[in-house]
Amino acid sequence: MIILRTVAELRDAVGAARREGKRIGLVPTMGAFHQGHLSLVQRARARCAFVVVTLFVNPTQFNESADLARYPRDETGDAKLVESVGADVLFAPSVEEVYPRAYTTTVEVAPLAEPLEGIVRGTQHFKGVATVVTKLLNMAQPDEAFFGQKDAQQALIIRRLVRDLDFPVRIEVCPTVREPDGLAMSSRNMLLDDESRRRAPALSRALFAVSDAVARGETDTEVAMATGRSVLADAGIEPEYFAAVSAETLASVNVIEGETLVAIAARFGSVRLIDNVIVGAGSAS
Ligand code: PAJ
Repeated sequence: MIILRTVAELRDAVGAARREGKRIGLVPTMGAFHQGHLSLVQRARARCAFVVVTLFVNPTQFNESADLARYPRDETGDAKLVESVGADVLFAPSVEEVYPRAYTTTVEVAPLAEPLEGIVRGTQHFKGVATVVTKLLNMAQPDEAFFGQKDAQQALIIRRLVRDLDFPVRIEVCPTVREPDGLAMSSRNMLLDDESRRRAPALSRALFAVSDAVARGETDTEVAMATGRSVLADAGIEPEYFAAVSAETLASVNVIEGETLVAIAARFGSVRLIDNVIVGAGSAS
């Protein structure tokens, strides 16, 4: 595996692989790898002969400077991990390489950016995500790009921007990888203190309670969500949001009839965690 820093080097490497007839897979990340990230790389490896993983802690998507400052960084450890699962290139550019001076163009996917995370973090967050993902897709020009269902709203926004702006790329959204106790893997989990780490699995337990209620035939959103809310109350968690929305439009639903995204966000001290499940007709998780 090679580590590259500039767009020119990346284009050369990808161009050479393409001339050899290889399918190019892209896995955008912000590093601090765990099995969730690695599962995306493994999936990319299974489908594509040349796999590029990007490691860029994108400043424009952080709404709190403290969150950006302490975002875990370990490029050496990350490089070893992605190499072990078969990445060909780790693209780790500087902020200056990604955002040249007098950089002014941005990408917005309103109104999908407005609810849920948009309410808490502001619409700047997904503007930052959509813009950097657009740039990474243009830099690497992959045939396929891989994202996690863990960030459901982000995945939806990326699917929409790729469709709306005619990117010639197949987007695959991969299942959420969890710890044995159900907690969704996240680079932020390592920032939790012991007590928060013990309470945090209640987020997924609440989601699964809703999913069980729906599987038992409950279609009234309020009744199904109440089962999750009582799990949260027992764990002493007041979520920032705990919502059932259309998995396609993110509009609130009163009746669970089609694919419904049940999404949660909660703070444990200064650490913010998110998780979700899809429930309703034809859902798999
Ligand atoms: P990051 O948080 O590093 O996540 C990189 C990718 O890993 C995202 O697609 C995310 O959904 C996926 N991921 C994270 N935890 C996961 C888990 N437990 N199971 C499965 N997939 C998981 O998301 C970002 O970076 C950034 O916003 C980015 C898209 C790179 C743009 O800067």
